Amino acid sequence: MTAHAELAHYRKHLPSAPTASTVRIDRPSPGDGPLLWRLARDSRTLDLNSSYSYLLWCRDFAGTSAVARDSSGRAIGFVSGYLRPEAPGTLLVWQIAVDESVRGLGIAGALLDGLCARVAAEHGLSSLETTISPGNHASERLFASYAERHGATVAREVLFRADEFPEDGHHPEVLHRIGPLIF
Ligand SMILES: CC(C)(COP(=O)(O)OP(=O)(O)OC[C@H]1O[C@@H](n2cnc3c(N)ncnc32)[C@H](O)[C@@H]1OP(=O)(O)O)[C@@H](O)C(=O)NCCC(=O)NCCS
Repeated sequence: MTAHAELAHYRKHLPSAPTASTVRIDRPSPGDGPLLWRLARDSRTLDLNSSYSYLLWCRDFAGTSAVARDSSGRAIGFVSGYLRPEAPGTLLVWQIAVDESVRGLGIAGALLDGLCARVAAEHGLSSLETTISPGNHASERLFASYAERHGATVAREVLFRADEFPEDGHHPEVLHRIGPLIF
């Protein structure tokens, strides 16, 4: 068993563990902005944007974003995204993170499923895009698994090479395009 699988197995058997079926997938409000910022900061993987941008995002892009809450209402994960202006049937997932203490329990998968179902119902949705830095195996598996659940294929191409970023040591970003999605 890999370390990830072992930890997930242990967590799943804790009586208090939230699961994909017990978390509530909500539309965020600006009051969630600080929680999203903290989850992004504590992930130590995501690019941390300004706190202001998370509050603004929860105001202006709540319809294409989601927050996962446990039974006490605490935010334990989020996904932010937008419909591409040039391709309105395409949801670009910008950031997704789950609190380290509850990873491996299916919460990110539930966030993607819940968000995409809502966006499909409210706006129509035919494909999903995200970018992943090479080596982020958890994220690669999360999106590959989403594609498998929805009978879609994944096409991958480099969107931004490392040398296209300013001199901040940013990794390349590989675009994963998942489709066609049928709801
Ligand atoms: C990526 C992340 C959101 C996944 O959250 P999660 O709630 O643990 O994911 P899930 O439990 O829903 O798992 C989804 C799939 O990924 C797999 N997975 C999750 N973590 C994994 C890991 N560390 N290694 C390998 N596979 C992993 C799961 O087994 C599952 O696969 P399956 O559907 O085939 O069973 C979480 O690891 C995280 O917050 N990472 C830091 C932020 C980040 O990297 N975000 C993505 C940036 S592109």
